[in-house]
Amino acid sequence: MIKLYVNPNLEKGHINEEIYGHFSEHLGRCIYEGIYVGEDSEIPNTNGMRNDVVTALKDINIPVLRWPGGCFADEYHWKDGIGPKESRKKMINTHWGGVLEDNSFGTHEFMELCRQLGCKTYVNGNLGSGSVQEMSEWIEYMTFDGVSPMSELRAKNGRTEPWKVDYFGIGNENWGCGGNMLPEQYALEYRRYQTYVRNYDHAKPIFKIACGANVNDYEWTKKVLEYTHRHALKEAHGFMDGLSLHYYTLPEGWNLKVSATDFDEKSWYKTLNKTLYMETLIKNHGAIMDEYDPDKKIGMIIDEWGTWFNVEPGTHPGFLYQQSTMRDALVAGINLNIFNKNCDRVKMANIAQMVNVLQAVILTDKEKMLLTPTYHVFDLYKYHQNAQLIDSKLEGIEMIGLEDEYMVPNLNESISMSKDGKVHMTLNNLSISDSYDIEGIFIDSEVKSVKGRILTDEMNAYNTFDNPENVSTKEFLDFKITHKGVSIKVPPCSVLHLEIEV
Ligand code: AHR
Repeated sequence: MIKLYVNPNLEKGHINEEIYGHFSEHLGRCIYEGIYVGEDSEIPNTNGMRNDVVTALKDINIPVLRWPGGCFADEYHWKDGIGPKESRKKMINTHWGGVLEDNSFGTHEFMELCRQLGCKTYVNGNLGSGSVQEMSEWIEYMTFDGVSPMSELRAKNGRTEPWKVDYFGIGNENWGCGGNMLPEQYALEYRRYQTYVRNYDHAKPIFKIACGANVNDYEWTKKVLEYTHRHALKEAHGFMDGLSLHYYTLPEGWNLKVSATDFDEKSWYKTLNKTLYMETLIKNHGAIMDEYDPDKKIGMIIDEWGTWFNVEPGTHPGFLYQQSTMRDALVAGINLNIFNKNCDRVKMANIAQMVNVLQAVILTDKEKMLLTPTYHVFDLYKYHQNAQLIDSKLEGIEMIGLEDEYMVPNLNESISMSKDGKVHMTLNNLSISDSYDIEGIFIDSEVKSVKGRILTDEMNAYNTFDNPENVSTKEFLDFKITHKGVSIKVPPCSVLHLEIEV
């Protein structure tokens, strides 16, 4: 029998709500169609934002939204996206399909979207092709409360009050699409650009995020910290508050993208195995960060994660529109449990991307909308937001899979205590075929009541616009309160949430 030890009295750290963050880029149908349809659309909207999408995102307590990219961020010139829509400059979205970008969704629209969602704002600045002055003026435009050229321009465009910029990224993937820079080069640029990201309101300082590594480029992490860390540590809001990390799950690597829906058992285990690599990356980058920042003042910001499969047949290859199955659900469950368990260093994570792109939580087709299995995982996990991670340990787990190289542990968990004193357990069963009996042993506490919801189905089950509820959560009753805690039977291929009163 597998044992799960839980100690509700041993708190291991605060789980920032931002770990449940999202990412929205000007890419394919994420912003346009997926979120923003314009005020004149027949699709029900509020100030141009789709009501159905906004409501669904509010239901999972979306805490923070990153925008406008991604690679798009380092080509984005914010002044093209303000003022009367008819006179906004158009541009070619060279990264993503070479389509025309009319800039009808800009700073005001993003801030309005975040207002409707009730979430924090994470704006990603342009270091790759924008000037220091441009970045500095954007900050002034968004946050300065007083008389200045940029605040007057903002007022002229209909907004007198400044907005709150919670997070600001200084470049994106500057080792690649953001300028192909060397780490030393980026670090020096970073020092200069971040100087002009002014905190006009000292009561609400902007959390500055430096571009971090691509996957396992540890040299990048080392070099960027070497050039910037001292100043980061001098005061709470020095040179850098966060350092990003990007890691996508690609079962066969970049050169052989696989179908999102048509896959076999081998591919299932390989995908989950590759997802588990996230833990290694966090530990290894974290160890380098510890050398420079032993008190863990700098947050690891995993602002792009998720699966990257082939686009749906017949769709634009540059739009990265893919379906999401139970395999994606497990990828999400595994990643989120890893983030929770490393919440001492991981301060934010943003799934790529929110709507219609890569591992989206929502897909749209004109007026129709569906929630993907990944959405349901966010729904099951939302109770961890701002909770305290508590000590837990699985004993007796097995390694399962079909190929030695790509074995995975059969189960994976994280457990927290929310402010109201309830314990929230999220548990993934990675096996396609086997269910497992788990004896939950609660240390120095008695389990009084348990409520459960589960997402479980065939490995490649997914939702379609004709059958949008094919995969969804249901009540879970396969547990028994015992004198030691709670015993649970977890079905194969499942993501489970238990709310436990102790
Ligand atoms: O999310 C899609 C792209 O992946 C982003 O634009 C870029 O940052 C990353 O390479």
